Amino acid sequence: MSEVRTLVPTVVAALPLPAAEREQVTEVVVVGSGAAGLMTAVALAEAGRTVTVVTKGRLGAGSTPWAQGGLAAVLGADDDAELHVRDTLVAGAGLCDEPAVRTLVAEAPEAIAQLQGLGARLDLDAGGRPALTREGGHSRDRIVHAGGDASGAEVTRTLAAALRARGIAVLEHTVALDALLTADGRVGGLRTARIGDGGALRDVTDLRARAVVLATGGFGQVFTATTNPAGATGDGLALALRAGAEVADVELVQFHPTALWTGSGARGQQPLVSEAVRGEGAVLVDADGARIMAGAHPLEDLAPRDIVSATIAAHLRATGADHVLLDARHLGADFLERRFPGIVRSCRDAGLDLAHEPVPVVPAAHYVCGGVLADLDGRTSVPGLHAVGEVACTGVQGANRLASNSITEGLVAARRCAGVLAAELPAPADVVAPASGGEAIAPAARAAITAATTRHAGVLRDAEGLTELARALAAVDRSNAPLDVAAVEVTALHTVATLLASAALARTESRGCHRRLDAPQPRPEWQVRLVHRLNRTGHVRTRTVPVLAGAPELVVA
Ligand code: SIN
Repeated sequence: MSEVRTLVPTVVAALPLPAAEREQVTEVVVVGSGAAGLMTAVALAEAGRTVTVVTKGRLGAGSTPWAQGGLAAVLGADDDAELHVRDTLVAGAGLCDEPAVRTLVAEAPEAIAQLQGLGARLDLDAGGRPALTREGGHSRDRIVHAGGDASGAEVTRTLAAALRARGIAVLEHTVALDALLTADGRVGGLRTARIGDGGALRDVTDLRARAVVLATGGFGQVFTATTNPAGATGDGLALALRAGAEVADVELVQFHPTALWTGSGARGQQPLVSEAVRGEGAVLVDADGARIMAGAHPLEDLAPRDIVSATIAAHLRATGADHVLLDARHLGADFLERRFPGIVRSCRDAGLDLAHEPVPVVPAAHYVCGGVLADLDGRTSVPGLHAVGEVACTGVQGANRLASNSITEGLVAARRCAGVLAAELPAPADVVAPASGGEAIAPAARAAITAATTRHAGVLRDAEGLTELARALAAVDRSNAPLDVAAVEVTALHTVATLLASAALARTESRGCHRRLDAPQPRPEWQVRLVHRLNRTGHVRTRTVPVLAGAPELVVA
């Protein structure tokens, strides 16, 4: 294990916490209401625990409902767990934790069966079994889907209904500000606030709990264009870091190769064109109709996602074009309407006809492979604090997540985390008053933070740009204004961008989602996790931790 020196001091902001007006007590707080959070809450309630779900928007309004592809699991007659393990390790480019991958693969079919048992209406084949499709990096058809391309929406509908049926308490439009810590550094609850008109914080509450489960998703919003919804601002990761938890692999942000290109001024959440469209036979072409992925990888358009995105980005850089094209015309209008109704609709909304013209696409920030360091049971480095789903870094996703392994991971980890907390919930403990000093990042800084992160830490990176990004982030204005939800989110975005810049600068190689133009090959000495922890002065300390992986082949486009 060794400490990594960063060129620019890595300092993150603490929130100026408003005082609590009241206290509430529950057994377990779950923050976030995507697949992982909802499944954790449902499983805990089934085990007899009292759960409160805290969610920034409406119940189920996170990233999950936007997921098109589906859930990966070994269900096909020609499939085998070893193949799913191998595909995950190969995509993960040497940074997967193999035992965690094996657990994921082994438990995925049961998690999906539970989802069906809760009423999920999956797409079925002629024999009444879940219909399976293929996505990038998979050697077999193993993606379970629903409503054609509405898989995440069906998962959300199912779990939200199960949650309501069990009478689980839900605090909607409520933000988790900071963890409440006991004198010996355990997490004993959260300071929360209701989001009022204009984003003002109301009803500041100390929500005391015997355990806190973060299921807050990713931080795609740190880039100007992302497939993630507006709430994906990294709040959970920043909160965990401030609570003393270790955070890892933040530089490993996966860019989905095919977000619909809606113009060079596109900002915020962009429509996704699922990889399953390529799984069914669509291909990427340039303006002259030449295949982009031919010769770039043996799996061509179904290469792992990092390779497809890097190949597109290199093509855009070389040609000066601002998008490539996805040609699905040969699949036919009837098939496309039936299999991908949502994508056909979003193309139509953008004035495009997927069945009759190649549609413009471009890579966009999609999924964070890193996060709060946790095992697949959700345990983090801080007792009482758990993390499941995208906010967690369990080693399942490695340096590049295999398509449709994320909702599957969310469900598997949720079930395991709930099992652990049902069996071993710690005794309630007194918490100490959180420090109230701190200066949030000014909301006015948001556009500059996202523009600089996009410019310098996108699909292709180099030391010069990353150094400029780190310096720009270190110089960002702080605000003494009363805290509101915009400041909470911008402070989180600044924290994740700061970690991302620092780690991407330190990792002098290309591996998985992390592509350095000035270090284009993977290097064996970098088969490590970059793990960050905050010290008492707000400085981030970073060390490397070796990964024991299952020797996959590393492929760099
Ligand atoms: C997609 O449908 O292409 C996205 C699936 C995923 O992110 O795993």
